[in-house]
Amino acid sequence: MIRIEQLDGLEVLDSRGRPTVAATMVVKPGVRVSISVPSGASIGKAEAQELRDGGRRFGGFGCRAAIASILGPISTAVARESFENQEHLDTRLCELDGSPNKSHLGANAILAVSLAFARAAAKVRKQELFDYFASLLPESRPALPQLSVNLFSGGKHAFGQVSIQDLLVVPSKCLSIADQLAVVYEVYQNAAAIAAKRYQSRALTADEGGLAPPFKTSAEMFETAAEAVEAAGYQLGADIRLAVDVASSHFVQPHGSYRLDGQTLRPNELIDCIAQWAETYPLVSVEDGLSEDDWTHWPDLRKRLNDGTLTLADDLTCTNPERIRRAIDFAAANALLLKVNQIGTVSEAKNAYLIAREAGWKISVSARSGETEDDWLADLAVGWNGDFIKVGSITQSERLSKYNRLLTIEHEFESRFSRLQP
Ligand code: PGA
Ligand code: ZN
Repeated sequence: MIRIEQLDGLEVLDSRGRPTVAATMVVKPGVRVSISVPSGASIGKAEAQELRDGGRRFGGFGCRAAIASILGPISTAVARESFENQEHLDTRLCELDGSPNKSHLGANAILAVSLAFARAAAKVRKQELFDYFASLLPESRPALPQLSVNLFSGGKHAFGQVSIQDLLVVPSKCLSIADQLAVVYEVYQNAAAIAAKRYQSRALTADEGGLAPPFKTSAEMFETAAEAVEAAGYQLGADIRLAVDVASSHFVQPHGSYRLDGQTLRPNELIDCIAQWAETYPLVSVEDGLSEDDWTHWPDLRKRLNDGTLTLADDLTCTNPERIRRAIDFAAANALLLKVNQIGTVSEAKNAYLIAREAGWKISVSARSGETEDDWLADLAVGWNGDFIKVGSITQSERLSKYNRLLTIEHEFESRFSRLQP
């Protein structure tokens, strides 16, 4: 049992300068923790709803109403109450909200309280946060994920110069986190140098720190990524693979065709184009290759991609157990992008995770474009044994806090391992 003594909420700013929600929780015996939640830009229609103030302040993005939810109804319901476990608190929060998408109290307010409880419970039990997250699953052994790191960005995360949102590099999983980061650094530096030479300017960076040179086409983005890998002295396929977040919900047209790099493509033509990328480059995964409503064509895309390339669902599934079940029934995907704030509580995200795992899906644990310096996501990826983690690029402190936490956990694992040695 964990008794919540006090709950507080504070509007803080995310990496885009927009307000987001932080919560502080005091639990017995005098344990005090704080946590903050992220927010997306490339938001799926089926995501849980954040509560935003509207009006002129912060362009309508203010979170005072969400803070009022924490200080008012949520505190009234949960402060000075005891909870058996995470599920108990999260169920209470969902009941209290009562809406299907958390629009009443705000998913941002609810998630902050759910996560604060996780951090507090770990502290009460004198556990690392990743061990606490692992303890929520029926069976899980914490393990370090493979990195998938934004190299180039377009779409909503940049100026929209190319339609696809992110091109990522995925270093070999035989490497440690420390070595994966070193490899990514070299590729990133080479990519920046190539972009500077080709476009005579310092490459601007996108929301998640990916480079955003004025590529004319997505094909050019792929070619330059391959060039940067080679210039860094690595072999594409052997040392590094690529991944792509097409984020096509943002360039689907009302009648179901897609507007990619100035061309209008029917769904099967977009599938052909993606299949061509997967044939030309060693692609680990294709995320949101089709739009969030295009249930008809997702299974075709999955069939077209060979076994080596995952069909990764983000906006399609929105970390929502019902939508994941539907995607499994439709054979629409074989990997889940897991974003806790798409669903709004730790326990519901856990259910989403378990359903996907049960179907044999791979899991990529993901940050959002609007992040804070909080590092809980790294613990979640480790605790839930994510196959991949997707945090953005290797610049900007809100991204680095997660990578640095992974480095710290890796170090902790090494010392745990050496303690086991005779
Ligand atoms: P978002 O994008 O955080 O801006 O929604 C991330 C993604 O699409 O994976
Ligand atoms: Zn995405």
